Amino acid sequence: MNKYDSGMVAGLLHSCGATLVADAAQADLVIINTCSVRVHAEERVYNHLHLLKHRKQCEPGFLLAVIGCMAQKEGQRIAARFPWVDLIAGTRMLDEVPALLQRVREGARTPLLAIDEKPRLDFGETQARRENRFLAYLAVSRGCNKHCTYCVVPYTRGAEASRPLAEIAAEARRLADEGVVEITLLGQTIDSYGRDLKDGTSLPRLLRAIHPLAGLKRIRFVTSHPKECRPELFATMAELRDKVMPFIHMPAQSGSDRILRRMGRGYTRQRYLEVVAAAREACPEIEFCGDWIVGFSGESEEDFGRSLSLLKEVRFQHSFVFKYSVREGTPAQRLPDDVPEAVKKERHARLAEAQEMISLEKNRARTGLTEEVLAEGPSKSNPRRLTGRTRTCRLIHFPGSAALAGRIVNVQVTGATALSLMGNRAGAP
Ligand code: 5AD
Ligand code: SF4
Repeated sequence: MNKYDSGMVAGLLHSCGATLVADAAQADLVIINTCSVRVHAEERVYNHLHLLKHRKQCEPGFLLAVIGCMAQKEGQRIAARFPWVDLIAGTRMLDEVPALLQRVREGARTPLLAIDEKPRLDFGETQARRENRFLAYLAVSRGCNKHCTYCVVPYTRGAEASRPLAEIAAEARRLADEGVVEITLLGQTIDSYGRDLKDGTSLPRLLRAIHPLAGLKRIRFVTSHPKECRPELFATMAELRDKVMPFIHMPAQSGSDRILRRMGRGYTRQRYLEVVAAAREACPEIEFCGDWIVGFSGESEEDFGRSLSLLKEVRFQHSFVFKYSVREGTPAQRLPDDVPEAVKKERHARLAEAQEMISLEKNRARTGLTEEVLAEGPSKSNPRRLTGRTRTCRLIHFPGSAALAGRIVNVQVTGATALSLMGNRAGAP
């Protein structure tokens, strides 16, 4: 979501005459789009702000803005601690960034704080700046109605607000017309998309609406919530399997019912497994990606063992593992952060290692098979190779010319690591 927002803000500024430069050192405006989900992300922003003080002092006209979740949550404090920042704009003010910067240029008092000035973000028909011209994100909703006890998102991004289906379909059409071949739909809990609109709008309906778009070859969506995933979604994925990719990012967070309850996740381990089984039955090729939090308040060795066993039972394709970090203002702040850092670190390593083994086994099992790959462009390390993604979002490298970028090609897998596959174009000499 942050990448999408950054691309949108860059697109807005571009339409106002700004040019994106590759290196912040050459920029006369630096915007830091921030994340509050873990303390580590926030610390990195504070470091940047300290480093940029010098430039503010020596370069007249240099502008510095902090936008997004940290601006929303910590705006006042950032203004007090880093008075050299020019603009602090919250999560619903991103579409106003060019106008706010104009106010700064015209002499507004800085730091200019713009936090809760309007209820809803609306980028209109902004053309986002994207890292790859064939791939695009598309936000279908904003905010989150869940209140997982550890999570700051409902407080930084607010309640869930779905965008009308027609608006999303129009944005998808514009993207396809621009040559985008893969769209990733974004929502904090994508399965509940449309429920607040109360007109029958749903994720399956949205998938059906954009599926026919000419030029669009692949549709992905993130992030799924185990409590919200419905069998209808899997049936739709199976039916639209030519374009809707068989991959679900569905955070488990923990495999222990006791911890899931403390986290306020609203499902049990059993329910998680049932969702996985239903998805696999409808779409046999489907793969899962998970998020995990280790060392949450009260997590015993036995609880952690339940996470480890769930990870092994589901056999995720990939997992993101995080050490619990207390977030101010969340319900879990009142619970003791009682798992020592060393234990969090050790559990993090064990879970990540178990995942790596599974990823390696699963990737090696692809050897000899032919994958449908969307070629994304030349590989960063070797320009004579292409990088692409398989249907299940596995990264794959193969020899080929840059002219293939944006096309779907058949690649036979010749080797694998835990993180990627290697291959050769099937039928190519
Ligand atoms: N501490 C650690 N990890 C967290 N996440 C969310 N909040 C926290 C927190 N307070 C993780 C969850 C979520 C992912 C985006 O970040 O696993 O799925
Ligand atoms: Fe945070 Fe839970 Fe909402 Fe995900 S579902 S954004 S973890 S509150």
